[in-house]
Amino acid sequence: MLLGPPGAGKGTQAERLAQDADVPVYAMGDILRQAVRDDTPVGREARRFMEAGELVPDQVVLDVITDALSSPAAAPGFVLDGFPRTVVQAEGLAGWLEERQLELDAVVYFEVPEDELLRRLSGRRICTGCGAVYNVYNRPPAEDGVCDLCGGSLVTREDDEEETVRNRLRVYHQSTEPLLVWYEGSATPLRQLDAVGEVDEVYRRLLRVVGCS
Ligand code: AP5
Repeated sequence: MLLGPPGAGKGTQAERLAQDADVPVYAMGDILRQAVRDDTPVGREARRFMEAGELVPDQVVLDVITDALSSPAAAPGFVLDGFPRTVVQAEGLAGWLEERQLELDAVVYFEVPEDELLRRLSGRRICTGCGAVYNVYNRPPAEDGVCDLCGGSLVTREDDEEETVRNRLRVYHQSTEPLLVWYEGSATPLRQLDAVGEVDEVYRRLLRVVGCS
């Protein structure tokens, strides 16, 4: 389970870890954005919270994630990105896992200073076609504004506008940071990851932290 502030690189590393471990990744932000695009009941409920940089209500995300984790695809294991994000969500996940006699292998906290988070979020561009993630500062596409993979156009994510980012960081400090203490006292203690540096280097550190290298 990958935990950390907005822009810490959780999504980037989760994709890679899941690919190498050959398990699915459940990225709550991606699941919710898809629900908004599909205009499902969950998407209609989530939209206004996401646009404001607020958290979607706990019960909504708990229903979404337990549904996803109950699918056969999750049976071999999974990577969680961006869930849980509140103590209520962590308690809900712990209860769900306990009922099934499952445990998290590792909870990893991505540490990145705030000025670097702001830089990463202001530079992030997303492909409207395939969802690939770029960064104008350190992961630019070959051609400006065009996805290397599918040729789709690259845009700034709506919630990466400066004012919304500041609110997401405020919400992170208020609602998600308490999880650092919560996990310290849990059966799966928190492992700290220095998430500043080249993506490849951070990935090598992540593998060490989760005991895979
Ligand atoms: P979500 O999409 O999960 O947003 P987030 O947690 O704010 O995380 P980000 O996607 O912004 O950052 P990231 O850490 O994944 O970084 P990334 O790898 O993309 O959630 C969006 C919204 O959905 C929330 O605000 C909320 O409304 C709702 N939501 C989601 N989960 C919820 C929950 N559990 N409960 C309630 N509501 C929920 O990298 C960022 C940029 O940096 C990219 O451009 C990348 O290329 C670049 N980068 C990555 N690694 C590096 C590196 N090592 N060096 C330099 N640049 C890097």
